Amino acid sequence: MKIEVFEMERWQSQWENVVEYNLAESGVDPLTVEELLGGPEAVQELGRRQMLYNQGNGTLELRNLISHFYPGATRENVLVTHGTCEANYLAIWRLVEPGDDVVVMLPNYMQIPGLARGFGARVMPFRLREDRSWAPDLDELNRAVTPRTKLIAVCNPNNPTGSVLSEAAMDEIVSVARRAGSWLLADEVYQGAERSGQTTPSFWGRYEKVIVNNGLSKAYGLPGLRIGWTVAPAELIFELWSYKDYTTIASSVLSDLLARRALDPAMRERIFARTRSILQRNYPLLEEWINGHGADFSLVPPAAGAIAYLRYRHSINSSQLMERCIREQSLLVVPGDHFGMDGFIRLNYGVPPDHMHAGLDRLDRVLSTVGEQKGVGGQGPGFRHQAQTG
Ligand SMILES: Cc1ncc(COP(=O)(O)O)c(C=O)c1O
Repeated sequence: MKIEVFEMERWQSQWENVVEYNLAESGVDPLTVEELLGGPEAVQELGRRQMLYNQGNGTLELRNLISHFYPGATRENVLVTHGTCEANYLAIWRLVEPGDDVVVMLPNYMQIPGLARGFGARVMPFRLREDRSWAPDLDELNRAVTPRTKLIAVCNPNNPTGSVLSEAAMDEIVSVARRAGSWLLADEVYQGAERSGQTTPSFWGRYEKVIVNNGLSKAYGLPGLRIGWTVAPAELIFELWSYKDYTTIASSVLSDLLARRALDPAMRERIFARTRSILQRNYPLLEEWINGHGADFSLVPPAAGAIAYLRYRHSINSSQLMERCIREQSLLVVPGDHFGMDGFIRLNYGVPPDHMHAGLDRLDRVLSTVGEQKGVGGQGPGFRHQAQTG
């Protein structure tokens, strides 16, 4: 099977640990192991762990902890995965056959559209609309979904826009999925990273054919643990586990242990409070920087995630801008091109303020050499792919 390049991850893999300033992440400044462990006892417990194969679907304790966040779920509804990305991968691998229709929210983290096309599906978009503050075009969803639709994939809170679906939009998405009998896959990895502190409701429990994927990389600031999970009907979870036998077999024992620590309710609250305080401290700083640029940028304020999806009005293609930032300023930003939308960049504001300011200064240096072009980054949805097919 040939698969298209996952552009954003390819660039991040190449550059994120090489550049001096990385504003391309989407989570908050990660925790240290020490911060997570919190004391010598826990360090000693970690030291006593035997480096055996962990329980393949995740330890009972970890699956129990996760299931408590999803009313009505038990540990039989939970599979622990190697990050949210493995949870997404397993679901698409199991469910999507050549010739299936898959309807995907755009813009989005492009893993699911890329994989679905790789497995032979016809991928059709339904878009979040900038002119509606990134609310979804539900008419487009209704037109795209038919009885041939195997799966509808949403990302809520959304990457890259940071928008959160309204209850009414969630209801409509569920009813469209129900009408078609399709699976509904909700990637909820930014849940808990809301600036307001109001946790985004889950799709779990709204429909029998819901798959919810989540993980510790964003709202918890623990991407290095590589822990994610799927919550789904028990029969599907059992099948997905057997697919996992072919990918990563099990998570690391150390990650499972540290994940249990992070998901302990009191610690989870502390971690979410930390995440929120970073977002609330940094967002006004970013806003100030944007406001200082007059009409150069426009931004629909993100509700969640440490990401700002900025429309810019400079006469440069977004990938060219990113390449210049890397080569001239050792700065990594995400170009809108990676979401099929030129004229945008995605900036991370979850880093320490001095790092963010230094990164933004470097971006300024590049942009100061680029003119403004009418029509580039102008009006309209800005999508490169008006219709995507298999
Ligand atoms: C929507 C979305 N899903 C999944 C992932 C991958 O996350 P993880 O590190 O949990 O594998 C990302 C990473 O950026 C993401 O934005």
